[in-house]
Amino acid sequence: MSKNQPIGVFDSGSGGISVLRAFRHVMPQEHYFYFGDHKNLPYGEKSHEEIRTLTISACDAMAAQSLKALVIACNSASTAALDKLRSRYPIPVLGIEPPVAQAAELPGTGSFLVMATTATLASPRFQSLASPFGDRVIPLPCPGLVELIEAEDTAGQKEYLRHLFEAVCIEDVDALVLACTHFPLIKDTITQAFQKPVSIIDGYKRAAESLKALLKIARLINEPGQTGQVSLTTSGDAEIVARLTRFLLARPGFIQPDNPGDG
Ligand code: DGL
Repeated sequence: MSKNQPIGVFDSGSGGISVLRAFRHVMPQEHYFYFGDHKNLPYGEKSHEEIRTLTISACDAMAAQSLKALVIACNSASTAALDKLRSRYPIPVLGIEPPVAQAAELPGTGSFLVMATTATLASPRFQSLASPFGDRVIPLPCPGLVELIEAEDTAGQKEYLRHLFEAVCIEDVDALVLACTHFPLIKDTITQAFQKPVSIIDGYKRAAESLKALLKIARLINEPGQTGQVSLTTSGDAEIVARLTRFLLARPGFIQPDNPGDG
């Protein structure tokens, strides 16, 4: 194992780019190999068995790329398959799971909405993360929102969110947990649609710091002073790489990937 090997980042589609952005912020010197399984998206409306099978098959192919760590940058895939993946590969495998405890720790937070896919909210893993906090946790399934984000359909997203939040008593909500990695890609649209100042939690900075600590212990942190390379790949059509690139560059401070727009 060498320090120079990339960190793999897996998602069902483009959502893991929000995670990749946070990881690059914390560990800019690392190389990253991103794979989005756009061909099989959405995962979040499939059964746990289907999600597990798709995730294992995609991650087996990624693990063959000589990675030094693998990030499952998809709540639906992590809640369905993380245990299986951890025992399958000889490298650290880190999941992105609903950061419910992190929301509950926020000072002044009473109740909070957990926006996620149907599969994540129905998973035993989510139940066990949420149960210590009882009815402070308000699960909010968002079927169909992932597709609107992939389509970059801003008008459709606004309309969807307007209807979604109409069904919620927003006075009772102090925080929004974004427990689907696609949702931080439209964080500003979500914030505006909520119509009340609210804390937003995704948990990625903490996840990135915990991987950094793991790599440090294993002496696998890449040499500082250089900026790592990013490789963006998909099981879908080649033009999707241009979409991944747009999402990656959508916030300041994140540099050009090495294969912008090609496929
Ligand atoms: N990005 C995935 C997640 O975090 C969900 C997208 C999908 O439904 O495929 O749950």
